[in-house]
Amino acid sequence: MSRRPARLFVLSTLLAGAAVFAEEPAPFSWPERAENLTSLPADLPAENLRAVMTGFTSALGVRCSHCHDGEEGAPLGAYDFVSDANPKKQTARVMLDMLGDINKKLRTIEPGGPARVNMWCHTCHRGHARPTTLAEELRDAYAAEGAGAGAVVARYRDLRATYHGRGTFDFGEHVLNQVGYQMLAEEKPVDAVQVFELNVEMYPQSANAHDSLGEGLAAAGNHAGAIEHYELSLQLDPGNDNAREMLKQLRSAAKSAAP
Ligand code: HEC
Ligand code: HEC
Repeated sequence: MSRRPARLFVLSTLLAGAAVFAEEPAPFSWPERAENLTSLPADLPAENLRAVMTGFTSALGVRCSHCHDGEEGAPLGAYDFVSDANPKKQTARVMLDMLGDINKKLRTIEPGGPARVNMWCHTCHRGHARPTTLAEELRDAYAAEGAGAGAVVARYRDLRATYHGRGTFDFGEHVLNQVGYQMLAEEKPVDAVQVFELNVEMYPQSANAHDSLGEGLAAAGNHAGAIEHYELSLQLDPGNDNAREMLKQLRSAAKSAAP
């Protein structure tokens, strides 16, 4: 910790030196008078434009290049911020106009008052470029050509590694549970088992997650595995009558199948 300021000092000296010699575009500064504002007030001061644009980047979890004509990693001075070449910029204008309509409608609700909730980009986007739910992301991964439950598991792990704790997606146990049951309904028990197994990995203390895995395994024909997880579910929640009933059925089926 104590060495860090010295290192930072060296780094900033090096950077300052590099800036003198490198042939770089003029450094970026927020324009006092923007040239091409059609949704925001045309005379928006530089300070407010800066607040809106940095607000966009954090609301969507993106960088300037997501909407503007410029290469990621290039200095901002090399960007053409006036240009409309990036179609996402036009989408963002539609969003701005939509948000204006929404907030105008919200203000007509009676009785009004100081406690009115103001909608902003973040309300929908929650730090994500496309404001999808986790279940939608997982269904998308599953629907991709040639993809199976492995793609669902991979997408979940990816999203969780990036977004857990940020409020972008709800990683509660009910989501994987619901996606797994959808697979069961589509008569894909082997895929459902993979999803339920992931839920048990994430929520090993959840009686419900073990109960669902038990159901998936039974549907996939793995009765020994089903018994194991119904038993675990019952240990975690002795009030789980469904698990008790399923265990009875599975054990009597096992007995009558025995030679
Ligand atoms: C979500 C999309 C989005 C992101 C991300 C974004 N912008 Fe913008 N930006 C816009 C839109 C849309 C406009 C035009 C608004 C209008 O027409 O009223 C704009 C306008 C501008 C302008 C005014 C250009 C002019 O003179 O007309 C500047 C400068 C600018 N953005 C800089 C930035 C910077 C720097 C970043 C990154 C920190 C950034 N923007 C991130 C969408 C975005
Ligand atoms: C009411 C909810 C809502 C609000 C508020 C909202 N958006 Fe969106 N936004 C969406 C939806 C839904 C989509 C996906 C549209 C689609 O299906 O392609 C989207 C897509 C976008 C995209 C395209 C993303 C991509 O990569 O395809 C941009 C850019 C964007 N929004 C910017 C904004 C900005 C900037 C704001 C605030 C001014 C904003 N949005 C506010 C719902 C919202």
